[in-house]
Amino acid sequence: MSFRLFAVTAPGLEKYTSTELNSLGFKSHRPVSSEVYGDTKEEAGGVEFEANLSDMYRVNLRLRTANRIIVRLGEFSAVSFPELRKKAARFAWETFLKPGQPVALRVTCHKSKLYHSGGVAERIAGAIGDHLGKSCAMEKFDESARFPPQLIMVRFVHDQCTISVDTSGELLHRRGYRLETAKAPLRATLAAGMLMASNWDLHSPVVDPFCGSGTIPIEAAMMTRRIAPGRNRRFAFMNWPDFNQELWEDVLSRTISEETPIAAVIQASDRDAGAIQIARNNAERASVLSDIKFNCQAVSNLQPAGSTGWIVTNPPYGVRISQQKDLRDLYARFGTVLHDRFSGWKFAILCSSDILIGQMHLEIIEKIHLVNGGIPVSLYCGNI
Ligand SMILES: C[S@@+](CC[C@H](N)C(=O)[O-])C[C@H]1O[C@@H](n2cnc3c(N)ncnc32)[C@H](O)[C@@H]1O
Repeated sequence: MSFRLFAVTAPGLEKYTSTELNSLGFKSHRPVSSEVYGDTKEEAGGVEFEANLSDMYRVNLRLRTANRIIVRLGEFSAVSFPELRKKAARFAWETFLKPGQPVALRVTCHKSKLYHSGGVAERIAGAIGDHLGKSCAMEKFDESARFPPQLIMVRFVHDQCTISVDTSGELLHRRGYRLETAKAPLRATLAAGMLMASNWDLHSPVVDPFCGSGTIPIEAAMMTRRIAPGRNRRFAFMNWPDFNQELWEDVLSRTISEETPIAAVIQASDRDAGAIQIARNNAERASVLSDIKFNCQAVSNLQPAGSTGWIVTNPPYGVRISQQKDLRDLYARFGTVLHDRFSGWKFAILCSSDILIGQMHLEIIEKIHLVNGGIPVSLYCGNI
């Protein structure tokens, strides 16, 4: 069985998901910069690719930067509700749903005769019921639920209807290790994307002096040890009627057999003792506690872990933690520490403000636009 899959990413991360897919052996794919999913109007780009069943399991298990993987079920034109219901009933819904199983529908309509998303959702649920011979209830999709209902995505553009089925369930940034968080935690998918965007070589030391709940160092340890980010969680495809448990176990055990010992020095610190304790607990759940050197210290006490390496970090910035003016002093202090002790190192710093970064007097070689918790931010990269 072959699937047309789409890896949905946060804006700015498409390129890194595409690189990940290349390294997993997928050649023919196309980064897409902007699509609209769901009535939450979540803007998301992503990458389209073809895969068989075991690859579909594998990408869910291994992609570090994608939010979710969806199957493109098909496209057709429809200008009336009866036509929509009839055409939608032709898909092989039995692949994804048991008769009577409730579904969650996310519908967007643009420039189409069928513009009422609630009406479209009702007809799609009706079509699924028609196909499976038992009516299908609609449930709300709770993004933060541990076991959300099967999600179906419907997109109308110029009377053309595209239907997709989610394969992931809970968003893929939920690796299962981060049960506790400190202030303003990053999504694990963004932390992995920052490490990839920094061009970290997976071997040199990597330092996060504002580690909070430890997302960046934990993702770094998982990357260098080739630990699959999804190995401790469930996916929506596991509830499909023909879920192939044997094939999944094979994919999982092959992936686990590729894990390697730690290949880099990973250093994480924060001035908040509570945050360090949380980061340690998260690292333990991710099985990388012994791979990371944690320290409770202010950034002014930071010392390099070698003669060269990468600083990859997300210091506090105004919008999320506070608007205090002493943030400028913090960035200036951080800049002085880097200039005095980290000459020859590379940096990738996530921040929402050119003014704050300006306090560090660093030469910025690349500025990558990303989004963190709905806020436009940039990853400022360069050499010290
Ligand atoms: C935006 S949060 C980092 C979030 C982290 N990336 C995560 O995923 O949880 C910034 C962190 O910087 C820490 N911090 C603030 N001022 C500091 C300082 N002067 N030295 C070290 N850490 C500091 C805060 O305690 C907070 O945990």
